[in-house]
Amino acid sequence: MTDWRTDPPRDASAEAQYATLLAALDGLVAGERNGIANLANAAALIYATLPDLNWAGFYLYDGRQLVVGPFQGKPACVRIAVGTGVCGSAAAARSTLIVADVHAFPGHIACDAASRSEIVVPLLDGPRLLGVMDLDSPRPARFGPADARGLETLAARLVRASDW
Ligand code: SME
Repeated sequence: MTDWRTDPPRDASAEAQYATLLAALDGLVAGERNGIANLANAAALIYATLPDLNWAGFYLYDGRQLVVGPFQGKPACVRIAVGTGVCGSAAAARSTLIVADVHAFPGHIACDAASRSEIVVPLLDGPRLLGVMDLDSPRPARFGPADARGLETLAARLVRASDW
């Protein structure tokens, strides 16, 4: 039996969305090893599939900074220093970062004034930082643990599916 004190309630609808998304991603990347192509289709798929997003895409690590990669949404800032903003903080920590209210996050970089909440998932090849996946929402507190799990699975599959 579920103990709600130790097992947080599952977000069944988000989990179903990610199951559909992951199956579609597998189909899109099958037989294709080009990383940019796979990230571009992943950004389009995420943006078209998940509700309440105003930006979805990737920043790639060039060995010095994060540089904007394939995305859907309004034009974004091009370069982000590791350790700066939500993307750079997740990259520096090499762990997923959920920000419920971007206005309350010190150093948040506003690319689209509509953004209210954000999730950033690092793309890691073992210990090597390849970049980050970034999703923005106009809805406060849009992202939760089901999103972190689903997007971490998606990021791991994208890394494995492509040559870097
Ligand atoms: N808000 C991000 C910058 C990237 S845009 O949201 C696309 C940040 O603070 O790192």
